[in-house]
Amino acid sequence: MKAQIIDGKAIASQEKAKIRKEAELFNEKYGRQVGLAVIIVGEDPASKIYVSNKIKACEETGIRSFSYRLPESVSDQDVINLIEELNKNEAVDGLLVQVPLPKHLNEQKILSHITVDKDVDGFCATNVGNLLLSRECNKACTPAGIITLIESTGVDICGKRAVVIGRSNTVGKPVALMLLEKNATVTVCHSKSKNLADICKTADILVCAVGKKHIVTADMVKDGAIVIDVGMNRVDGKLYGDVDFDNVSEVASYITPVPGGVGPMTVTMLLNNTVKVAYRGK
Ligand code: GUN
Repeated sequence: MKAQIIDGKAIASQEKAKIRKEAELFNEKYGRQVGLAVIIVGEDPASKIYVSNKIKACEETGIRSFSYRLPESVSDQDVINLIEELNKNEAVDGLLVQVPLPKHLNEQKILSHITVDKDVDGFCATNVGNLLLSRECNKACTPAGIITLIESTGVDICGKRAVVIGRSNTVGKPVALMLLEKNATVTVCHSKSKNLADICKTADILVCAVGKKHIVTADMVKDGAIVIDVGMNRVDGKLYGDVDFDNVSEVASYITPVPGGVGPMTVTMLLNNTVKVAYRGK
């Protein structure tokens, strides 16, 4: 194997130690804990795991968590009323609604009620717009984690050719903007892209966020590229990334594993955003 593994678990753990110190300092200085409120609606098993991981991570870093579990039967207005209440609550610095919401709820309408400052997911239109305009904002957590992982290699992003596969609002589009902000030359590919393999082969930095097992094969990767795998594909009970890890490792210089790569960074960046919001409010 040629590539060095980018150990997301270890990097997340180092970042969490820094966040813990900042959270402790905040508590000493302002006499209260940094607070994160999490709303979950219904019984989606994956969402329940994600939310319990967020609450556990709050405990590890000295952040106070406020968790609200609402039944599947709630209305848009019920969720919006709770959001409005938490928007006003001064003990709550960050606020998120776990998605996906049950089908009968209007997700975009509900999320739009979270105040811009407390939107620690960085999902709202104003935060996304501010990212586009290179203004200070809450940045989406998975893309911010990807940038931290790339920077952990010591390779300068400036001037590199970056290819992002996937154009989701939560990963593909924001990570492309963040790479552009770091002065990479960025191409975004998607399901309608022609010559995907040829485009990928030009990448010094290749980020794949598609959700299809092993869509990136070794022949698509430039010698010495940094490869970031955002995929989490469960097939027959086993977890696979979007990247054919074993074969791509023979070509790339750095690569993230699945699990243990991008995954642990998302929650860490959420806590980082929450602490930053708390200090910004002072
Ligand atoms: N569902 C899956 N990932 C996320 C996330 O990062 N934030 C929220 N709010 N919901 C999610």
